[in-house]
Amino acid sequence: MTIVINVNGRDHTVEAAPETPLLYVLRGDLELNGAKFGCGLGQCGACAVQVDGQAAYSCLLPVAAAQGRRIRTVEGLGTVEHPGVLQKAFETEQAAQCGYCIAGMIMRAQALLDANPRPTETQIREHMQPNLCRCGTHMRILRAIRRAAGLPAETV
Ligand code: FES
Ligand code: FES
Repeated sequence: MTIVINVNGRDHTVEAAPETPLLYVLRGDLELNGAKFGCGLGQCGACAVQVDGQAAYSCLLPVAAAQGRRIRTVEGLGTVEHPGVLQKAFETEQAAQCGYCIAGMIMRAQALLDANPRPTETQIREHMQPNLCRCGTHMRILRAIRRAAGLPAETV
């Protein structure tokens, strides 16, 4: 069926079965390859994007259910030449190792900072809890989020 989804402020018309995961459409049709397929089960967060401002697993969301909602992917935050604040903070803190989890991490963190620009350490950790990093760069990821929020890099 013909489906129109709004991604990073632009409407896109795609042909897809309604139950197709949004992740497949983002990557396969729109060539937005930041979000990754990890588990496909809502258990890793590699596919996280924002839907109406909330972090969401795009591997679980049928594309038909994404119609009429605001989808935001990591590509919507900035470019290689002009990265967004959070993207820049991840780069400065060298938070990526293999990088597979990073787009999902950034989009989940962005959802927090959009709603709460100065979160507490507890709020950051609780919010980021669903996203996994197999490389174990969690401490650097947390530093990057603190940096983007203008908080001290280290917790006491
Ligand atoms: Fe979506 Fe793992 S790929 S949560
Ligand atoms: Fe490799 Fe997170 S940097 S999975």
